[in-house]
Amino acid sequence: MKISYVINPDLKPKEVSALFVSSGIRRPVKDIGRIKRMIKNANLTICAKDGKNLVGILRAVTDFSYCCYVSDLAVDKKYQHLGIGKKLLKTAQKSLGNEVMILLLSAPEADSFYSHIGMENIQNAWKIARKR
Ligand SMILES: CC(C)(COP(=O)(O)OP(=O)(O)OC[C@H]1O[C@@H](n2cnc3c(N)ncnc32)[C@H](O)[C@@H]1OP(=O)(O)O)[C@@H](O)C(=O)NCCC(=O)NCCS
Repeated sequence: MKISYVINPDLKPKEVSALFVSSGIRRPVKDIGRIKRMIKNANLTICAKDGKNLVGILRAVTDFSYCCYVSDLAVDKKYQHLGIGKKLLKTAQKSLGNEVMILLLSAPEADSFYSHIGMENIQNAWKIARKR
């Protein structure tokens, strides 16, 4: 199976919503208007495609100079454990370069994935939670 990786592709909100569902990630998938804004206003999005089918996504906001927040990393369950999630992060790291720190919030079930691929766990993160 040949997976291609595309940086900042055109994406349809409905295909992203469907990918979120098929990956198991929790996102506001029924609110297509909000998904549309999430795609439009992210400034680094990397997709994994099997032919025309979207099978993985990394969606982030970054200044390309100092920091990058990865909001979504999701791979279709049928395509998990094939190296796609790791490759999406590596592709982001490569395109961001050495000056940029990558930060993300892990879902509990993905903690072991981030640890396995060598990311550093930090304790000094703080947040103001969204209300909905
Ligand atoms: C977490 C997720 C993105 C990982 O993507 P993936 O494509 O399945 O992961 P990869 O195949 O790139 O895995 C890379 C390595 O991590 C390992 N790995 C994958 N998932 C793992 C897990 N949950 N725990 C521990 N190791 C894991 C793989 O076996 C592989 O190991 P190897 O390099 O030694 O062979 C994917 O499982 C997913 O979309 N999960 C649901 C959504 C989610 O929780 N996203 C994260 C939100 S913060």
